[in-house]
Amino acid sequence: MQSKLEEIKIKALENIGKAKSLEDLDELRIKYLSKKGELSLIMQGLRDVPLDLKPLIGKVANEVKGAIENAFLLKKEQLNDAVLFEMLASDNLDINLPGIKFNHGTIHPLNQVVEDIEDLFLGLGYQIKEGPEVESDLYNFEMMNMDKDHPARAMQDSFYITNDLLLRTHTSPVQARSMLEAKGKPIKIICPGKTYRRDSDDATHSHQFMQIEGLVVDKNITFAVFKNTLLQLIRHLFGEEREIRLRPSYFPFTEPSVEVDVVYYNKDGKKGYIEVCGAGMVHPNVLSMGGYDPKKFSGFAFGIGVERIAILKYGIENIRNFYLNDLRFLKQFRGK
Ligand code: PHE
Repeated sequence: MQSKLEEIKIKALENIGKAKSLEDLDELRIKYLSKKGELSLIMQGLRDVPLDLKPLIGKVANEVKGAIENAFLLKKEQLNDAVLFEMLASDNLDINLPGIKFNHGTIHPLNQVVEDIEDLFLGLGYQIKEGPEVESDLYNFEMMNMDKDHPARAMQDSFYITNDLLLRTHTSPVQARSMLEAKGKPIKIICPGKTYRRDSDDATHSHQFMQIEGLVVDKNITFAVFKNTLLQLIRHLFGEEREIRLRPSYFPFTEPSVEVDVVYYNKDGKKGYIEVCGAGMVHPNVLSMGGYDPKKFSGFAFGIGVERIAILKYGIENIRNFYLNDLRFLKQFRGK
């Protein structure tokens, strides 16, 4: 019996060594190691072995089984590796190639400014409005207190689609739209959007630019509330210490009107002012055209130049950079 076991061992190891595929190997496993395999059959004969020989035969049988199992596992590993290598070779898969980089987009600096300002005003209880970029003469000019031959129209030459339709020259028409929509109720809105003027493009002018309109209408809105709102805006954008200067100005739709200048210090420490916003108390004519009694209601409005803010905030020298879609420029503002 002992020699029979040895014989099986030698045969099995030889066959396993020769196995060429995992299928071959599985057949051998059934032949030698399964319940009906050669080894099991022999082990069944252990019953008839004389008692004193049993421990020895048992030991040999276990050794043989162990040896075959080991050889089997080793071969299985080799064959698996071979299968993998063959797959790699035939698939032409170069595992050293770097993966495809996922291109992360960035928020455009102008949109960053818009989102930042929206955050502030949402926190102050304002609603965000939108208005059409193709606007009628009625909303863009007439309801903003500029009738057909008002000289102030000359400052806002536009692109006309028909005599009555144009690309809006400012976001102010949304003031008129909001008043008509609110039907005499108090208003607190901002409206960011694109605006257009017939202008020659240069480093600081663009025929297309962005504004954020703001409008508050209620009873008892004073100039002090107005000024404080502007100060809050500028300090939100440029830091708590920042000072502003309100310079008397003229807009047909506000009275009194101001330009909001931000104080800044240049490289040599010299004090300067940059204009970032036109603003004022809503003109009584605009209120009454919008359905509000100017004796009972008052309000203020402002129009923020988004490019101006971004230029100041990020130190950008040429306004054209905003519109060129040059990734080398745009990627510099990630998360700023
Ligand atoms: N609409 C004005 C402009 O574009 C800015 C402005 C808005 C002024 C609101 C006063 C009030 O120049």
